[in-house]
Amino acid sequence: MKNDFQTSLQPQQSSSASESKAAKHFQLIEKTYQNNLDSDYTEKIADLGKNFDYSSNSDRYWGNPELSTLYGTPLYDQASESQKLALNHLYWSGQYNHTANTEANTVLYNRITEGVFDSLNDYQTLCQELEFETAQEYHHIRTFQQIGYKTKIALLGKSSLGNPLKQSANLGRLKDPVWLKSLNYSVEAAKDATFRLVTRLMIGNRTCYSRYLQEQDGNSIPTIRGGLGGLTGSPTMIKFFTLNWGSSPFLASQYYAIRMIGNMSLKTYEHQYFKHFKKLEQAGEFVPAPTAVSYYHLRDESFHTTMSQVIAQELYRDFAPPNAYEKFVANLMVYSAQQGVLGGLSGGFPAVFREDASFFILFYRLLQSPLFEMSSEEALQWMEQCLCQEHEGFHINLKYHQRLLKECQRFFEPLDYLWPVNREVRIMAAGGSIDRALENNIKSWKHFSQQVLA
Ligand SMILES: [Fe+2]
Ligand SMILES: [Fe+2]
Repeated sequence: MKNDFQTSLQPQQSSSASESKAAKHFQLIEKTYQNNLDSDYTEKIADLGKNFDYSSNSDRYWGNPELSTLYGTPLYDQASESQKLALNHLYWSGQYNHTANTEANTVLYNRITEGVFDSLNDYQTLCQELEFETAQEYHHIRTFQQIGYKTKIALLGKSSLGNPLKQSANLGRLKDPVWLKSLNYSVEAAKDATFRLVTRLMIGNRTCYSRYLQEQDGNSIPTIRGGLGGLTGSPTMIKFFTLNWGSSPFLASQYYAIRMIGNMSLKTYEHQYFKHFKKLEQAGEFVPAPTAVSYYHLRDESFHTTMSQVIAQELYRDFAPPNAYEKFVANLMVYSAQQGVLGGLSGGFPAVFREDASFFILFYRLLQSPLFEMSSEEALQWMEQCLCQEHEGFHINLKYHQRLLKECQRFFEPLDYLWPVNREVRIMAAGGSIDRALENNIKSWKHFSQQVLA
């Protein structure tokens, strides 16, 4: 089953044990591709998005009430039933907005890594599966956006789509002059050229450059915004990762370890919607469209998760073991993903493991929206109570945190190239502390409230 590229890289790894292991994952890829083709729920998901009408779904919970924005906070305890329903709907919209952005990351990285696998023999089915996944993601993203947009407009009004603080900060800001634009362009081009040089030098004759990257306009390195990928590092760092994932078979496979973090994080809450759907269906009750979207999405995503797992845990062993540079970059990627996506504990969003500071503006805007109609002072007071003092919401989120931590540790444990801090998921483990979350929120809160009142 080995191709020329692999043979030249690892002539020593041709034992019957590794051959049969390889055969096993080739079979799994083939089976997953066939099952994904046969199962495919994208049409159903697309129809649910197209026909979504908020008012026909507004009087039901879309999932367990626990999956609501600000659940378990003093504000939630005082909220009316209609506000509680709205918080349950806004939670779905927020989480799937993040999922839509993460799946937009997937579209790009599936193509980049496919451009590496495609140039090797034996991986045609894998490439077909990645292409099929990409096509599915387009439908998923569209539906999440359609439902999220209509829900936000219905509950918060059109002003919810902008960022008032950002807008006021930008008022009076002049556009960049032409000379500055061309300077920025030159800086980016120089950055791209440097990254390319370093990567080629460090990966050496193991370089297998993605066809997709070669076909880019002006050969610039594409980048992403938002989603799980966007939280993994600064825009410059993400460009560097993007190039590396498209530069060697090992690093292309390693991307799927990061994608698996996204798969597992999504499942943490999506499985709850799945169970809610089943319960309603068995009772013969009305199923809200977003609940059905989550249910069908989980079914599509189960194949994507299998692929992430098999590529990240098995397929990478087809190639020569990583050199010191590849090992370093792979570890840096997992380390950064832990810091950006798993390193905190939110007190306002269940099943979200980032610090609340990044959501302060969202909460501030939510409390001043038509849903709560608070003044700026009231909004700030409630935010302090909900984010800087211990409450049930933190404890509920800790439960989700511990569940995901165990899954991550199980997943990373067999990856022999990882540093202990990554294999044991230590950054995420350290983030699972209510005291630390409160301490960080109090610090960031002081800064935020001073900015708002200034
Ligand atoms: Fe998806
Ligand atoms: Fe997916």
